[in-house]
Amino acid sequence: MRRRLIAGNWKMHKNSETARGFAEKFLKIYRVTPDLDVCIAAPFTELLALEEMFKGTDLFTAAQNMHYEDQGAFTGEISAPMLAEIGVDYVILGHSERRAYFAETDEVINKKVKKAFEWDMIPIICCGETLAQREQGLEGHIVRHQVVMALAGLPDELVSKAVIAYEPVWAIGTGRVATPQQAEDMCKVIRDVVRVYHGNAADDVKILYGGSVKPENAKEILDMEDIDGALVGGASLDPDDFLKIIKQAQL
Ligand code: 13P
Repeated sequence: MRRRLIAGNWKMHKNSETARGFAEKFLKIYRVTPDLDVCIAAPFTELLALEEMFKGTDLFTAAQNMHYEDQGAFTGEISAPMLAEIGVDYVILGHSERRAYFAETDEVINKKVKKAFEWDMIPIICCGETLAQREQGLEGHIVRHQVVMALAGLPDELVSKAVIAYEPVWAIGTGRVATPQQAEDMCKVIRDVVRVYHGNAADDVKILYGGSVKPENAKEILDMEDIDGALVGGASLDPDDFLKIIKQAQL
């Protein structure tokens, strides 16, 4: 039985005041979730504050990106040891916004995934096709390629600890959610390709769905067999909405 994960991705939203305000309210309404994990991917500037506020709870923090080198002349970048030092638990890697706007390649994402594990952080590896690719029937091909490349060279023991998020680009921030069956079909494609390259690690790897997940549609998506959680953008900005989604994931 895979433990579920609900991850919020704040993207480039919230400042120190609004992040703290979220955490104060959320901590008042949130109750420990024994059967699933919850994390919030905040902007770098808010991670330390969240770490401190989440102490003594079962909530985890996540970064939204990082560099694949430990240190060096990489102006503007943040490294894995910098994140690990403040206690960050997860790191989102290869989000479609990073691929599209910052030209991240599968090779770079693969290096980052390896580096995250080296520093004991769990990568949340994002994959997903664009609308044009789906219209051409290429979604399976594209997503298999992204997943195989992101995991290339990793031992199966580490693959079994990884998280993969299927986020169709056409469903991100558009309000257009994949149907539960479309989401399940692609998450199954992902699990099958992980099995081809990494054997039984496919039974342990967590696969999340992301793209316009809301309190109203979360349950039917989370009920699908190969979907182990959700990566939530817009709806994670509001503590009440985020909590409602977490409740849908509780068994
Ligand atoms: P939305 O939930 O806002 O569609 O964002 C999804 C996403 O990109 C999460 O990483």
